[in-house]
Amino acid sequence: MIDLRSDTCSQPTKAMRDAIANAPVGDDVYGDDPTVKALEREVAELLGKEDAVYMVTGTMTNQVAIRAHTEPGDAVLFDQNAHVYILEGGAPAAFSGVLPRLLPGVRGVFTPEDVSNALGVSHRFFPNTIPAPVKLLCLENTHNIGGGKVWPIERLQAVCELGRQRGLALHLDGARLWHATAATGIPEREYARHFDSVSVCFSKGLGAPVGSALAGSRDFIARARRFKQQIGGGFRQAGIIAAGALHALRNHRERLQEDHEHARMLANGIAGLPGISLDVSAIETNIVRFGVSSLPAGTFVERLYDKGLYVLPSGADGVRAIPYLNITRQQVQEAIDIISVVAQENARNAGVSGPGGKVSSGAGY
Ligand SMILES: Cc1ncc(COP(=O)(O)O)c(C=O)c1O
Repeated sequence: MIDLRSDTCSQPTKAMRDAIANAPVGDDVYGDDPTVKALEREVAELLGKEDAVYMVTGTMTNQVAIRAHTEPGDAVLFDQNAHVYILEGGAPAAFSGVLPRLLPGVRGVFTPEDVSNALGVSHRFFPNTIPAPVKLLCLENTHNIGGGKVWPIERLQAVCELGRQRGLALHLDGARLWHATAATGIPEREYARHFDSVSVCFSKGLGAPVGSALAGSRDFIARARRFKQQIGGGFRQAGIIAAGALHALRNHRERLQEDHEHARMLANGIAGLPGISLDVSAIETNIVRFGVSSLPAGTFVERLYDKGLYVLPSGADGVRAIPYLNITRQQVQEAIDIISVVAQENARNAGVSGPGGKVSSGAGY
């Protein structure tokens, strides 16, 4: 089975398993796990922040960040397809008690005007106690539902500048920030410097089994540690898993180009197949999203699965596939062959002769 469901499906390498087996550990809750501390130091340094805190998941780092930036009843600006808003179990409402206000991003990228429009215009005739105060603006780079879209740096700067002028705290969901850097050559810390807090994941493209980190100022991270503890995130000899994350951080960032090439190879190999719609120029990093028109995406992915390719449906008419470090060029070619066979079979049954359907908007998951 070729498993392209997600870059989270990666398996630890032998060297990573060795690092895990030999990790010195302490007690993370008492703040003395040396491997966790080393990881936190390296992440803070890499992102140009004063401090960082290791947690189990990207969901936890994002949601702890939201909680630490806000108080219940505050409003937060999210892109309409943000992972933090759509795919984190309703946590902004449940954990932080915040009111999401949605921005009309295109593949996750919105404009300073979108932010201004969401903030509205205050006037002395209008009581400012009526709207929920907007405290936080969140961006996601690269954008998952947006198909691995990289925020153009000038746009990111302009949006963050506007957010700052309007007194908002700024959080970056950088689960795949490494991929933005691999695609553009712009260092992670150059993206990160515009934000008060940045969440990064080791368990996706970097290939570690578990973990994410949240970086920010010393005071902010101290507050974040309180909320980490509050939701049961204190995890004792966490150095065991932090060792995998540290190994990934030190050794796997450079190889991400290979995943991007595999994503482009996959996209080029299937664009133009009957009943498949895909804009190859939109493949900027490791995520490939495409539309299917000859039958529902759910059925399409089941046919692929029956032939040995495991991918995810994305909404009613979209499919998502993501190569990662255990996926070889040979497997990408096999994935292309399987998709070709299924697309052609479907086309024959449905009488479709050329590419079709709308390009997957990424509006599914
Ligand atoms: C952009 C983005 N942010 C956050 C997360 C959450 O990470 P986790 O699955 O570790 O909770 C994901 C997971 O896929 C993601 O794609």
